[in-house]
Amino acid sequence: MSSMSNATAIAHPNIALVKYWGNRDDRLRLPAMGSISVTLAALSTRTRVSFDGGDEDRLILNGQAASEEARQRTARLLDLVRGMAGARGGALVESVNDFPTAAGLASSASGFAALALAATRAAGLDLGPRELSILARQGSGSAARSVFGGYVEMHRGERSDGLDSFAEPLASESALPLEVLVAVTEEGPKERSSQDGMALGRASSPFWDAWVSGAEADVGRMRASILAGDLAQVGALAEESCLKMHAVMLSTRPALIYLREASVAVILRVRALRKEGLPAWITMDAGPQVKVLTSPDRSAEVVAAVEAVPGVLRLIRSGLGPGVALVARDRTA
Ligand code: PMV
Repeated sequence: MSSMSNATAIAHPNIALVKYWGNRDDRLRLPAMGSISVTLAALSTRTRVSFDGGDEDRLILNGQAASEEARQRTARLLDLVRGMAGARGGALVESVNDFPTAAGLASSASGFAALALAATRAAGLDLGPRELSILARQGSGSAARSVFGGYVEMHRGERSDGLDSFAEPLASESALPLEVLVAVTEEGPKERSSQDGMALGRASSPFWDAWVSGAEADVGRMRASILAGDLAQVGALAEESCLKMHAVMLSTRPALIYLREASVAVILRVRALRKEGLPAWITMDAGPQVKVLTSPDRSAEVVAAVEAVPGVLRLIRSGLGPGVALVARDRTA
């Protein structure tokens, strides 16, 4: 690119209520199933992209040079942006998370949503939300959902080019007020990427076909429950989808065991809280943290109970947040 240009975007991670775990096309990251998520207000990723014409793309993550693997994954998304813009030349990408990276807190979702917006704007492109979601999906499947705020639905799509595989807003927080408590049980990075894990699952889990074929019905039930404002149904379905995904993970060879002692302790405590009449349900992703879904007007009691579980290091409380947004843009010819 002949001109020097940069842009900065902020995106929030999302937590899936109906999980995405499996692709119908690995290269384009076309999901084998739709999914539904909530975008979290309390956590964020801020990413600045500057096309500085260097020989190679560079990635600085939380102030340090990122791994070669992360750099290459970023460069692949930048290649798509350069292709669309008819541009050349490397970029400097500086990204900061205010939460643990790659520990099951979906940093790739907020990271690639912020990267997709910042990079396209820095390259002089102005994509619509759907095109941005399609682009972000190619960096991380769940990133397609972080383009939007509130309750978000990701469509599986049928096309082989992926043009019908994007996320869309489903409902705002007012449809169903929700608080998400992230019980942090471990701060370290995860060992294996979600993409590798789901490919292994497809190749080896005896439960794979049942998992994939049940997903569309789960999405339909969750969509209806959100739109009906039925927290008890939303919570029950979210917990069910998460436990089914972990059954697939546990039955993958080699087994993907993300549950830790503290994770199981939180799960059991939350199930006991429900018996005591509190609205609380769990969900987990490809990491040891447990997210507890609850009603904002009962959350103080749930917070106190979950904080007291041995092995819970800290609790992050979040309401639902907005979609990806541009912070600053500076394009000098
Ligand atoms: O977007 P990826 O490749 O990190 O996959 C996300 C997978 C889960 O977080 C486990 C589930 C989901 O739907 O977010």
